[in-house]
Amino acid sequence: MASHQLLVLAGDGIGPEVTESALKILEIMAKLEDWQVEVDHAAIGGAAIDQYGDPFPEATQQAIDRSSAVLLGAVGGPKWDNAPRRPEAGLLDMRQYMGLWANLRPFEMIPGLEHLSPLRHPVMNGIIFRELTGGLYFGQPRGRRFLPGDLEVIDTLQYRKSEMTRIIQLAFQYAKDHGLTLTSVDKANVLESSRVWREVTEELARQYPDVPLSHRYVDAAAMDMVLNPQNYQVVVTENLFGDILSDLAGGLVGSLGLLGSLSVAGTPGTRGLFEPVHGSAPDIAGQNRANPTGAILSLAFLVGWSWQEHDAEHLIREAVTQTLSEGPRTVDLGGQATTQEFTEAVGNRLKDIWQRRRQQ
Ligand code: NAD
Ligand code: IPM
Ligand code: MN
Repeated sequence: MASHQLLVLAGDGIGPEVTESALKILEIMAKLEDWQVEVDHAAIGGAAIDQYGDPFPEATQQAIDRSSAVLLGAVGGPKWDNAPRRPEAGLLDMRQYMGLWANLRPFEMIPGLEHLSPLRHPVMNGIIFRELTGGLYFGQPRGRRFLPGDLEVIDTLQYRKSEMTRIIQLAFQYAKDHGLTLTSVDKANVLESSRVWREVTEELARQYPDVPLSHRYVDAAAMDMVLNPQNYQVVVTENLFGDILSDLAGGLVGSLGLLGSLSVAGTPGTRGLFEPVHGSAPDIAGQNRANPTGAILSLAFLVGWSWQEHDAEHLIREAVTQTLSEGPRTVDLGGQATTQEFTEAVGNRLKDIWQRRRQQ
């Protein structure tokens, strides 16, 4: 019997609702595969501010140290928008603490959901490689400086070449392994950091002559992803651009609730943080109407990446895709299913697919 462990950080808003769904699917998977799974819980974000006065408390750090994988719901909400340290700061601290410099955010058009895309002929199956622990999110100095009769505010866009190299190399390798094209997104017409980013990309391109590479400025990329999403197979970009383009991808596939992600330190089989791309959605929290797909797909990535259970990862993804294609669907997808009803439908399909595989 395989034995696995994970830490769940449910967080705020719809975070607890969607992680509960993911855990239901894990429970079913574990029963089918005869896994023994230990699930631990700790506080993050607003919930941690309420409990400990800190969005990333010591107790949570210790729980991470003891864990082999972390599943996150979402953090943030209006209640804490004026807190001295906001819930979002807790998430950023945790990514930094765990050394998770690569955030992989796949987006694909699910068959049967095409009518929900704003595009007329939506075809896409891409993955964004977002640098996660550098750039404007972490650069120093930052903050406010009071001037006579004015206020100066500073955020610093800071990168080391080594931080660029590792994420760009990871994206090149992925593109090579899967026979895909690579698009590097920057703002090299304005930013010095982007000029170095482009130099690094060109240097690495020599090691990957068989990977078709193109460069795009981020503004043009945002426009072109809407017009020609099929051209974006592997996208690599810095932290803030990746944050923005991945929500754009959520819009293109029909709902932000559909996207899951992996935040990792580059090497499969190691600990990672698995999180939906969406936030805590305070506008629908507590109503049993959140789409848990992003969380369930994040669980699938966890099972494949941290536990190396690749068959189980594919089974979960297949069950999700089938359910989305055939229904029932949640409200964001034009359906009427509650979070729980959708989750149950995914769970039932998972059991069916697993049984059919066994009989083959
Ligand atoms: P959001 O992603 O929470 O919501 C944007 C819109 O998408 C809302 O209309 C919401 O109802 C909808 N939506 C999001 N997820 C959905 C789902 N699973 N099912 C159905 N609909 C869904 O973004 P926001 O409103 O800009 O931010 C709310 C809070 O979440 C903020 O505090 C923000 O900082 C935080 N946030 C956290 C994370 C994270 O924890 N990883 C990510 C993004 C935003
Ligand atoms: C995301 C979120 C976070 C980010 C926020 C909540 C700090 O938007 O994971 O996409 O900007 O990275
Ligand atoms: Mn975001």
